[in-house]
Amino acid sequence: MKFYVTTPIYYVNDVPHLGHAYTTIAADVIARYKRSKGYEVFFLTGTDEHGQKIEKSAREKGMTPKELADSVVVNFKKLWERFNISYDHFIRTTDDYHEKTVQEIFKKLYEQGDIYLGEYEGWYCTPCESFWSKSQLIDEKYCPDCKREVERVKEESYFFKLSKYQDALLKFYKENPDFVKPKSRMNEIVSFVKQGLNDISISRTTFKWGIPVPFDQKHVIYVWFDALFNYISGVGYGWDEEKFKKFWPADLHIIGKDILRFHAIYWPAFLMAAGFELPKRVFAHGWWTVEGRKMSKSLRNVVEPNRLIDTYGVDAVRYFLMREVPFGLDGDFSHKALAHRINGDLANDLGNLLFRVLTMTIKYCDSTVPSPNNDRDRELEELSHKVMEDVDKFMEEQAFNRALESIWDLIRAANKYVDTKAPWSLAKEKKINELHNVLYNLLETMRIVGVLIYPFMPEKSLSLLEQLGMKNAPQKEDFVWGKLPPGTKVKKGKPLFPKVDEAKIAQDVEKEILEAESSEELIDIEDFSKIKIIVAKIISAERVPKTDKLLKLNLDTGKGIKTVVAGIGSKYTPQELIGKKILYLSNLKPRKLRGILSEGMILAADDGKDLYLPILPEETPVGAVLK
Ligand code: ME8
Ligand code: MG
Repeated sequence: MKFYVTTPIYYVNDVPHLGHAYTTIAADVIARYKRSKGYEVFFLTGTDEHGQKIEKSAREKGMTPKELADSVVVNFKKLWERFNISYDHFIRTTDDYHEKTVQEIFKKLYEQGDIYLGEYEGWYCTPCESFWSKSQLIDEKYCPDCKREVERVKEESYFFKLSKYQDALLKFYKENPDFVKPKSRMNEIVSFVKQGLNDISISRTTFKWGIPVPFDQKHVIYVWFDALFNYISGVGYGWDEEKFKKFWPADLHIIGKDILRFHAIYWPAFLMAAGFELPKRVFAHGWWTVEGRKMSKSLRNVVEPNRLIDTYGVDAVRYFLMREVPFGLDGDFSHKALAHRINGDLANDLGNLLFRVLTMTIKYCDSTVPSPNNDRDRELEELSHKVMEDVDKFMEEQAFNRALESIWDLIRAANKYVDTKAPWSLAKEKKINELHNVLYNLLETMRIVGVLIYPFMPEKSLSLLEQLGMKNAPQKEDFVWGKLPPGTKVKKGKPLFPKVDEAKIAQDVEKEILEAESSEELIDIEDFSKIKIIVAKIISAERVPKTDKLLKLNLDTGKGIKTVVAGIGSKYTPQELIGKKILYLSNLKPRKLRGILSEGMILAADDGKDLYLPILPEETPVGAVLK
């Protein structure tokens, strides 16, 4: 049995951040789980080093692109080592075997007529390395993905006949409905393809940093054509045929939702054309925000992965990322939430349980795993087997948070079991037989917990198992009740998870974010133009019940009535606001506040102590735009 799992290969114009860590940890969790279940696993990660974006970024830093890549690759590798990422191979798209493979496939597709020379006229988004047609742009100017301004491109280009594969792709999706996960994303892809596919430009002539088209040196190969084939070249194609045969097709490509279209449409089409089998699954996970905000450059320091490891420890961070948000959905990373999980799930539920069980074994059984008897109760044994089955099912679906929830069901049941069985009373009453049964049940449950948390928290798992007298990383045979041999010596180690000061952490982070935000980078006029502020008239106002700050306002915006919940109630009364013309941010995502849907917000000046509402001259027309 084999399992081949990949992460995206990350661009080297940026240092590794929380988003990269997230994807890579998820892939590591799967890889470790499958290995422990007896699979032969190949886990591939690496870096994407070509393209206009890298060339530009290197130029700005006064380096060659290769120098830039070399320096950033070191950061990625170091970080993966700290996170205990068990990858089998790290591919760089500047590696020769990769460049050779990409050229070879490009040439083959050209010779068979799937690639042809033409002229590209349209728009290009360098940060996304994406081509767009005019109709796809926002306001004819901005990238529909990242909303940044695109540039006009008109150049001779090689094209891939994507249109030719439309029907084959639709057929493939139909026959493999689990090809893209979550399901909602599969539906998005199917409807996108149904709208019709155009051939895509796959070479560039206006810059140099890329793999040359082998038969036309004016052109470099489009970075996404280059990058996607890492999944083939990284697993031995062209350098270890045996490996390639064993592991291809990939069982799982884990990616973020930002790059789904490339993986779910282009990639299978390229593979069909080149005559390879198609991967089994592409899982597109969701997007992290940080402390409720988009992960901007300045905010990234607040969640810099090395710093998270220093503060909380590797396994706590791994646990939080896998536990906090269902894989596939967007989520928010906050230090407060992380600290809360450390103190609750990890220190209290798990760490304390281990501590209690070991303390009792040391005290009542001379530090030795007791022998259970046939008359023992099977409560924890049965639950353990159910949890192991559930975990297996959830891991097959990449539902990491649910796998962890199941494991915690077992941990909580064991905590309760300690309380109801009260081994200290059994000891006092000299019910030795029952005492031994209870302690064996608990020790064996701890062992199973240790086996199950291994993929998520490898260091803590091994430390837990070692305290139970077990020496090896979990293997296939360990997923069954009764593997802890009576007579084994146990040994209490350091507490698994030291507690953290939640209140202090929350306070420090809040301060830091305020500082980061006030030193925010300069913005472009395009950034400002994304904000739509108009004049609106307050037509009614009332207090939101049970609050002293919040007012519910109805606004005439010139294009209908909008409701806004505003935090100005400590300074202004509803009566004095009615009829006033104020500034209204109209294109803010609606948000529920105290059960009321707030559609945008009104603007006020705030010096940290008091509020000042800009009230416009009476003659200002409702709907006028602030510029
Ligand atoms: O796109 N939340 O590389 P990239 C969650 N080189 N995940 C995030 C994230 C966030 N806020 N930010 C980044 C590329 N990611 C290409 C890939 S593959 C053949 C080529 C993660 O450096 C997520 O996995 O921009 C996303 O897909 C990836 O980083 C993008 O990394
Ligand atoms: Mg990106």
